[in-house]
Amino acid sequence: MTAAASDRRQFASDNYAGICPEAFAALAEANQGHEVSYGNDTWTEKASNLIREVFETDCEVFFVFNGTAANSLSLASLCQPYHSILCHEMAHVEVAECGAPEFFSNGAKVLLLSGAEGKVDPKSIERAVNKRTDIHYPKPGALSLTQATELGTVYSLEELRSLTEVARRFHLRVHMDGARFANAVVSLGVAPKEITWQSGVDVLCFGGTKNGIAVGEAVVFFNAQLGREFDYRCKQGGQLASKMRFLSAPWVGVLQDGAWLRHAKHANAMARRLGEKIRHVPGVEIAYGVQTNSVFAKLPAKVVDAMHQRGWKFYTHVGRTDEARLMCSWATTEQDVDDLARDLEREGR
Ligand SMILES: Cc1ncc(COP(=O)(O)O)c(C=O)c1O
Repeated sequence: MTAAASDRRQFASDNYAGICPEAFAALAEANQGHEVSYGNDTWTEKASNLIREVFETDCEVFFVFNGTAANSLSLASLCQPYHSILCHEMAHVEVAECGAPEFFSNGAKVLLLSGAEGKVDPKSIERAVNKRTDIHYPKPGALSLTQATELGTVYSLEELRSLTEVARRFHLRVHMDGARFANAVVSLGVAPKEITWQSGVDVLCFGGTKNGIAVGEAVVFFNAQLGREFDYRCKQGGQLASKMRFLSAPWVGVLQDGAWLRHAKHANAMARRLGEKIRHVPGVEIAYGVQTNSVFAKLPAKVVDAMHQRGWKFYTHVGRTDEARLMCSWATTEQDVDDLARDLEREGR
């Protein structure tokens, strides 16, 4: 039996999933008694220390409400208003943040780079930087990389290092949008430090929301100088939570026993299962490597319509126009995957 459309777990976004048990338990525990406000509480201290343990370094940690704020405010810290921010043409900071990076940086211009599978081609950085060097062009100030990318692919360690080497050569700061950082870590099987500060990343927006936290992302500065007075930037940007413990406690919940990695591993495994199940359905073509928790599939328009009619929700506006994004989460079950695959098979025939 297919679950009724209303109580079905969907494939539109990992944001559709609820709060994971570990984060929920920590929230409940943090709800005991009173705590100091504005981030001077024991939960925030514990969460920050756990993040330092995860990255095996003494980084500066801040918690904000969402990914747009994390990206925009951290990019603003890396740039002057007359700078430009270089990112892939499909980057969230370009296509899904309503101009917030430009707004919060007081005018830094986002310049677009190209590259296959959602990944920046190092040569496109060189092209953008060398295009003009005169005073009339916004001076390139930062490179923003998304790991895992908007298309669910990941930069290998070598790819990352060659990109940050180019960035260093051109004196660009390196920002990483890690809304799905956990999915990238488990996909690559690396230590978090290897794909961040050891590879030349200055600041990471470490995503929690898509991996089981209710709300809140961590902004992690590996370059402490760049994180100076970031708390004031957060406050001015409306991102300093007074009851900060409710942003930070869930991080303690997911980090203290490795749940963040388990959940990401599970989400990636569900996407892999889905990719394998639908790969051979007539009319379906998997568009990119399934490396994390999403499957991008080219589907005939009539199949998209029929699947929507059956109550399935998924996005068709993230990749190319003929691609559906099927996104798994920590809460996706094998049964969910099998139900979706079975309906696709029926409609694809
Ligand atoms: C790559 C990427 N970065 C950042 C975000 C965070 O966005 P939000 O401001 O909705 O939390 C998202 C969410 O879709 C994303 O996919």
